[in-house]
Amino acid sequence: MVSITLSTNDLLSQNVDCYAYIVEKNFDIVPLHNTVKNMCPDLSAILKQRSFIGSLEQVISIPVAHDGRIAFIIVVGMGDKESKGVSVVERYRRAIGQLVREARACKATSLAIALASAQACGVTAHYLAEQTVIVLKKAQYHFNDYITEKSRKEGEISSIVLVANVDDHKEAQLGIADGVIIGDAINQARHWIDMPPSYFTPQHLVEKAQEVAQRNNLKITAYHEQEIIKMGMGGLAAVSRGSDIDCALIILEHKAQSDDAPTLCFVGKGITFDSGGLSLKPADSMETMKEDMSGAAAVISAIDALAQLRVDVNIIAIAPTSENLPSGCATKPGDIVTFYNGKTAEIKNTDAEGRLILADALSYAVKHYKPDVIVDLATLTGACSRALGPIYSGLFSEHSELVKKLYSAGELSGDRLWQLPMGDDYKKAISSTVADMCNIGSKQIMAGASTAAHFLQHFVGDITWAHIDIAGTAFDVPNISYYRSGGTGVGVGLLVALAMNWKK
Ligand code: BES
Ligand code: MN
Ligand code: ZN
Repeated sequence: MVSITLSTNDLLSQNVDCYAYIVEKNFDIVPLHNTVKNMCPDLSAILKQRSFIGSLEQVISIPVAHDGRIAFIIVVGMGDKESKGVSVVERYRRAIGQLVREARACKATSLAIALASAQACGVTAHYLAEQTVIVLKKAQYHFNDYITEKSRKEGEISSIVLVANVDDHKEAQLGIADGVIIGDAINQARHWIDMPPSYFTPQHLVEKAQEVAQRNNLKITAYHEQEIIKMGMGGLAAVSRGSDIDCALIILEHKAQSDDAPTLCFVGKGITFDSGGLSLKPADSMETMKEDMSGAAAVISAIDALAQLRVDVNIIAIAPTSENLPSGCATKPGDIVTFYNGKTAEIKNTDAEGRLILADALSYAVKHYKPDVIVDLATLTGACSRALGPIYSGLFSEHSELVKKLYSAGELSGDRLWQLPMGDDYKKAISSTVADMCNIGSKQIMAGASTAAHFLQHFVGDITWAHIDIAGTAFDVPNISYYRSGGTGVGVGLLVALAMNWKK
């Protein structure tokens, strides 16, 4: 575990392996040169020779002899002040990601960073420190539980000192504390996603949720398969039929301090492995389908963080969880299921399983909690992933106030969203001649991400609701300095930001 501390002492007085400076593009080299000149008299010349101008993620490390040991001065660029599309804070995150990569390449175990001036970034010191810690944690995360070869085990940076100016100190300290909670929750979700699917089963997810509940003193309910069948949750039961392992419905509750606090309900898809069922996926598409519980990992980890942050909002996290496998008793195309709210669906493709388990979970949320808002997170459609790629999650909602709040939470957390249409014209794409609806959209209408959203809409009644499709953003996001391969934990930061800023 990395220890992250705050100091107001001079950066170069810290006893660490690496001294890091983050600079804007075309920064003024003179003040930096003067700051480090005792340790590194040739800084200007070296930067010049290497054409270092502070472009986004441009990085340079210079070894220096310091106190009888080797230390490094690392300078990282955060790019153009005026650049569009990626906000200042996101550029700052990427620079920090690049910094961590470079520090690891230097085999560093300790690192001191001069925090950017919050004022210059146009944000609060609390937020800047929080985001710094989150991204430091994200960048350090590496799934190596199963790597046994010593030479492939990387060393960790075990101690990081953030250097802030005196004015920001108090705020930054609080920001660091929040950042530790949120960063750890994100990495927890990533670890759950990265674990092999025969290990991380629905039952294992139940155990993890129980640990979260116990740690935070949250109420937890976990229904097992027999209860789910008895309660009439035909969608979840149908998906689980091909699997030898029981499905479950997990519900965690965090209570606000105020009596009149609103209730936010987060629902996350928890398919611990999606083979497609009898509508079997081709081998290539199945390779990463342990990721199909990323929504569940996100909502459970988000409530974990929000409980620790003592958010004054009631939070309900609901995760329906199951495997989706073929077998002699698996659900077949042509089968018709009845959901918890009494509606029916014809199953034409057993690979459209996410909406079936979400249908029951959403109906349950509506019936038992009548929350002010429901937000569901699901690795739901390849269509969304093809449309938006790995950077933006798809947002579907007809409630403009909620859309606004989610967009802003997306910017704050870096879990960015892009709204895609619902639109009445797509409603009839999922009509069925034999049931209330069909679990796949018609071929002519296509728009697979939107028709999936319409399917879910049948189960939320008149509650303010948004659906977020994270099929493209949950796993193996390339070219972002603070990620490597594997789970991203997308959605944790988003939901935390949404709840923490709810009343503002
Ligand atoms: N879990 C998949 C969606 C997915 C695809 C997630 C790629 C992450 C990456 C989902 O259950 C699925 O199989 N969806 C089908 C729906 C189709 C049969 C209507 C799809 O997108 O192909
Ligand atoms: Mn599927
Ligand atoms: Zn799936």
